[in-house]
Amino acid sequence: MTIDRLRRFIGDMTSLTGGAWQDKDEGATVEVGAKLLAELVKHDDWLPESAAKVPAHGYAQNLLWCDPFERFCVVSFVWAPSANTPVHDHQMWGLVGMLRGSETSLAFSRHPETGALVPGKLTKLEPGDVEVLVPAVGDIHQVTNALADRGSISIHVYGGNIGAVRRHTFDVKTGNPNLFVSGYTNREQPNIWDRSAEVRAAG
Ligand code: FE2
Repeated sequence: MTIDRLRRFIGDMTSLTGGAWQDKDEGATVEVGAKLLAELVKHDDWLPESAAKVPAHGYAQNLLWCDPFERFCVVSFVWAPSANTPVHDHQMWGLVGMLRGSETSLAFSRHPETGALVPGKLTKLEPGDVEVLVPAVGDIHQVTNALADRGSISIHVYGGNIGAVRRHTFDVKTGNPNLFVSGYTNREQPNIWDRSAEVRAAG
């Protein structure tokens, strides 16, 4: 299989987030988006090698696509063995679909008196699983590659240009936020538009 699955997913997400965006119900968007992402990560035969390289340390965030109006973006998140993120937020809705390997997401909530961040639910994702993150419900979490002996890959979809927004990491003890802009690891996006092989094959 080729990158066709990703191209179709991008088309579906463009339809879903298109039109009068302000009138869209975020809950409905993430509900349908989660189903589309589940379908995408059901198959591990489409992610280009360039966006699947396991880094020596930490993690790579490769931009696969950003909507021209920045209504959504798609990222391949590639983990080194046992790597983890700081505790962070997103400032927009997010969907995490497990493609290869496994990861855990530990949710944090704010203690009403001390302001400290308290660990809560631990979610483990296996290939095909999708996690939904919505700021209104609480989206502060820390994510870890559940595998100590190899890389893992999840496909992330966010309700904006995630690499280019101000968001936060947190000091768990105090709950104090630090501003950060995550950026992207790759300098070039995969080419989803070379459909020449199928056109030639069709005669
Ligand atoms: Fe996250």
